[in-house]
Amino acid sequence: MAATNGNSTPDLDRAGNRTPRALIDPYQRAITYLRVSVTDRCDFRCVYCMSEHMAFLPKVDLLSLEELDRLCSAFIAKGVTKLRLTGGEPLVRRGIMTLVASLSRHLGTGALKELTLTTNGSQLPKYASELKAHGVERINVSLDTLDADKFREITRWGELDKVLTGIDAAQAAGLRVKINAVALKGVNEDEIDSLLDWAHGRGMDLTVIEVMPLGDIGADRLEQYLPLSMVRARLADRYTLEDIDYRTGGPARYVRVKETGGRLGFITPMTHNFCESCNRVRITCTGTLYMCLGQADAADLRAPLRASESDQPLYAAIDQAIAHKPKGHDFVIDRRHQRPALSRHMSVTGG
Ligand SMILES: C[S@@+](CC[C@H](N)C(=O)[O-])C[C@H]1O[C@@H](n2cnc3c(N)ncnc32)[C@H](O)[C@@H]1O
Ligand code: SF4
Repeated sequence: MAATNGNSTPDLDRAGNRTPRALIDPYQRAITYLRVSVTDRCDFRCVYCMSEHMAFLPKVDLLSLEELDRLCSAFIAKGVTKLRLTGGEPLVRRGIMTLVASLSRHLGTGALKELTLTTNGSQLPKYASELKAHGVERINVSLDTLDADKFREITRWGELDKVLTGIDAAQAAGLRVKINAVALKGVNEDEIDSLLDWAHGRGMDLTVIEVMPLGDIGADRLEQYLPLSMVRARLADRYTLEDIDYRTGGPARYVRVKETGGRLGFITPMTHNFCESCNRVRITCTGTLYMCLGQADAADLRAPLRASESDQPLYAAIDQAIAHKPKGHDFVIDRRHQRPALSRHMSVTGG
């Protein structure tokens, strides 16, 4: 039996093939945003993301760049208009610019409205101009502190200078940069205002993120977790925060900071569940589709991808998976819930 998208029957074209159609989940949310983790590997080992000695996926399990392109293109044919490359660190995947270049054809046709990526910034000096040349307009760079020692502590392996040089290169290439910072109790909580002044001073938005209980990181999440309600309350002592409607298609809620004129986003998976407007799904570098970042449900797309040169089995598998997209997640970090909500690390799905 052909798969449906949960509330309708498939259309057939004249040759009897299913025509790709929009992805609507059981809660009537249109899925238009795909995040693709192109590798689970990284040149950093951030304390909230990975354990010090991570076991990575065997390289033989990875989809090739051509397969990743085909998979992304299938989602685009089914109505995805925004695609974010992530990881692990997307820019350490060998040959990554080949994928960016090939995906950019969908920008040319107008099927894709945005091709973007989330990066730790370390490889931007090398790739910023190429990204821009392939139609990437804006990127997110993750940066939790401007203190070089603290940066090394958080990332274990990273160098702040390299990331700052990367951000310079991105801005010089004409890319719009948004800074993402994970709010960490006792680590950068007294620095959010200086990050904000710095980012806004350089014309970059800043988004702060609550730490999520994903993966065993060999540390206590409760030690890291800082509710953004507290961050916001503290910032409100110093700045005038005006709620605004601005959206980027992601889960952040924005305010305008009157004193700087810049935008500040809050991603609050813990204190405010944002699932009702969820428009996104994630695929890993092995072709596993996660319908929700906060749930274990997943579908294997590698088998249908490899089963046939036709995309029909793939479309059917995608439809079937979307028909099972959960309503939402319910993360808890407290004394009774100190184990990870999910054993999967953030580096597998890329956030
Ligand atoms: C997994 S990284 C992948 C892309 C790239 N390596 C980077 O760091 O930007 C994507 C984002 O997830 C965030 N992140 C990682 N682990 C997290 C966690 N447990 N809770 C909240 N955010 C997390 C990172 O700070 C980063 O902004
Ligand atoms: S947050 Fe990004 S940079 Fe840090 S370890 Fe995870 S994947 Fe690497």
